[in-house]
Amino acid sequence: MKRVVTIDGPAGAGKSTVARKLADRLGWRLLDTGAMYRAVTLAALRDRLDLQNDQALGELAAKLDVQLPEGRVLLNGEDVSEAIRTVEVTQATRFSADSPSVRRRLVDWQRHFVESFREVVTEGRDQGTIVFPDAYRKFYLTASHDERARRRHAEFVARGVAISLETVLKDVIERDAHDSAREIAPMKAADDARRIDSTGLDLDEVVRLIEREILEPTG
Ligand code: DC
Repeated sequence: MKRVVTIDGPAGAGKSTVARKLADRLGWRLLDTGAMYRAVTLAALRDRLDLQNDQALGELAAKLDVQLPEGRVLLNGEDVSEAIRTVEVTQATRFSADSPSVRRRLVDWQRHFVESFREVVTEGRDQGTIVFPDAYRKFYLTASHDERARRRHAEFVARGVAISLETVLKDVIERDAHDSAREIAPMKAADDARRIDSTGLDLDEVVRLIEREILEPTG
């Protein structure tokens, strides 16, 4: 049986960690859709494109080759797994995320990716609402602003990036407001998504909770 599990939610809610661990435990394929928006943005920054130009961004996205082999991100064959996680790319990615042309292109890529695998855990902002409305199970993961900022900050520190917790918190709050207010594919839970607030929870607990729901027989 084909099974797609969607995990949506804001930055720092633990989606990436939870989705990766869940996919590992289940032996399913992982689709990190944020990495796709980041890869398009990296290419646009390198080409010095006007990030507000939807058409230019869409044309660029159409000719890029973005591959997601297990645990890595390849842009035209180059491993950009690290390069797409800089503060600069993180902040500029909202332009790709706001671009209708880029979104159309990436939604096609995402559906195509899922066609190639039987069982997929996909994470993003619009997976349960727009991209896979008929997903087998949908989850929407949230956490308080403070907790999410702490997690994001720890990730930056672990990668040796010097950035203050206050700056990360401000960015988390701004990005939420922006992502939720976006006209196209706003960040929101699908009506049939199970909401999980991970504030104060160990992410392994969240993984086990989701795993139980997925494996439990339906109907
Ligand atoms: O999850 P992330 O931080 O890697 O996502 C990077 C950016 O891409 C973030 O600004 C939200 C956006 N995004 C999106 O608009 N839709 C998705 N399906 C995934 C990410």
